[in-house]
Amino acid sequence: MKPGKNLPSVVTIFGAKGDLTKRKLIPALYNLYTDSQLPPGFAIVCVDFLAEEETAFKNDLLAGVNEFSRNGQAKEEEWNEFAKHINYLQGDFMKKETFDNLKTRLEAFDAQNKKDSVHVFYFAVAPRFIEVIADALYEHELCGRDGLDRIVVEKPFGTDLDTAKKLNRFLGKRFAEKQIYRIDHYLGKEAVQNIMAFRFANYVFEPLWNRKFIDHVQISVAEEVGVGKRGGYYDGAGALRDMVQNHLLQLLCIIAMERPGFYESELIRDAKVKVLKHIRPYTPQQVLKNVIRGQYTAGNVHGTPRPAYRKEEQVQAASNTETFVAARLFIDNERWKGVPFFLRTGKSLPVQSSVITIQFKDSPHKIFKDDITPNRLVISIQPELEISLLFEAKVPGLKMKLKPVEMDFTYQDSYTETIPEAYEALLLDVLDGNPTLFMRADQVEAAWKVVMPILDTWKKYPAKELHLYKAGTWGPSAATELLKPYAKDWFRLAARGESIK
Ligand code: BG6
Repeated sequence: MKPGKNLPSVVTIFGAKGDLTKRKLIPALYNLYTDSQLPPGFAIVCVDFLAEEETAFKNDLLAGVNEFSRNGQAKEEEWNEFAKHINYLQGDFMKKETFDNLKTRLEAFDAQNKKDSVHVFYFAVAPRFIEVIADALYEHELCGRDGLDRIVVEKPFGTDLDTAKKLNRFLGKRFAEKQIYRIDHYLGKEAVQNIMAFRFANYVFEPLWNRKFIDHVQISVAEEVGVGKRGGYYDGAGALRDMVQNHLLQLLCIIAMERPGFYESELIRDAKVKVLKHIRPYTPQQVLKNVIRGQYTAGNVHGTPRPAYRKEEQVQAASNTETFVAARLFIDNERWKGVPFFLRTGKSLPVQSSVITIQFKDSPHKIFKDDITPNRLVISIQPELEISLLFEAKVPGLKMKLKPVEMDFTYQDSYTETIPEAYEALLLDVLDGNPTLFMRADQVEAAWKVVMPILDTWKKYPAKELHLYKAGTWGPSAATELLKPYAKDWFRLAARGESIK
């Protein structure tokens, strides 16, 4: 039995009045509750500095569930039962008394449950509070039992390699590594978890999964949304820190990693770190050639006008922050040497869609007259969950005429089960003490190491080749140029309800 499985558990959320709590954490915990996935004794302690009356607080959380849960409106009776487990603790993270009060609540919960319980401390807070809260938990001896006490830290984990290292050291002095759960919510997505199954439970692909058969890989995470109300954070971060350093590099790791000896968290994480360590580091000149950055100007997305990024709330009027990145990366190891991995992400693009495409090589010797489209494997992560293999087939008739067809696996057609949200899977893993889908300290640092030459070059040449693109378009044309000679264009991404065909 894993440490903590089915033990009474308390999840303390710091930043209880924030967006993440309302949109993601409480809807996820509520769905786990209605799916009978939470342990028999559980409580959620919500901490924030705002004075808030408990009923009003819970009503606001209910509104969040109704608006954001994958299951739609909460059932009144179920919500009322669930809400009995939630309590609000008003407190300033900077003050000792907040943690004294928290301790009293946790002790009361433990006394009531008459056995050791799991204590999870979720940092749903701005980065400046991470060290403050971590230190207070340590000083109050609230998080010292390394099999039972855990902290969950959201991204951004540092703003560069140095700050990430510093934060790792700070946390490492107070908690054991196995108590620290660094979230990258992409790893909790159902279709992302399925890539492991696809690669390592289907041996048929293994002999093809290398430089001999794969021409290139495209990883696209496109977003329709702009920066919205997050300009204050985003303008200091940009797409490279916000999306590439974490989500896109993690997708790349799962595609490129070697088969671990077992399905075991440390072995899986070791295999991913190895990929990151083999990504070719770029000189400034290579950065300018291999990494394109863009920023959206005014335009419209699906007929709705969008302001230019520089006109968004809390964004500097002359900001050079990138809202789009396309990069060509190489992994210098035996499996991948010479195979480009093209990564692309951006805001205010025409669709909301995340897709990985593995483009296989063309046959070295052709026996048919028709043009042949080389095989292609498409893994759609969202909005549709789908895997599709493109291959050539003979068109029925009296002549030998060829045409590409697709073989599809869609979740919708194959399963009746509903798809859990990433945060449901991740929160359950934290409660169960399973760190597989969380970032280990060395993983975060290795990912920062990959992006540091890019950040350093952009810092040195702030405005150099910042490509502007109109909101609602596919980003700067330089991003397409980057693909040459491997591909003419990025593969088309499907919108919701559309197949990737
Ligand atoms: C977050 C980024 O980590 O991921 C956001 O901070 C981004 O800027 C979001 O919009 C995308 O996540 P998803 O699950 O909507 O693809």
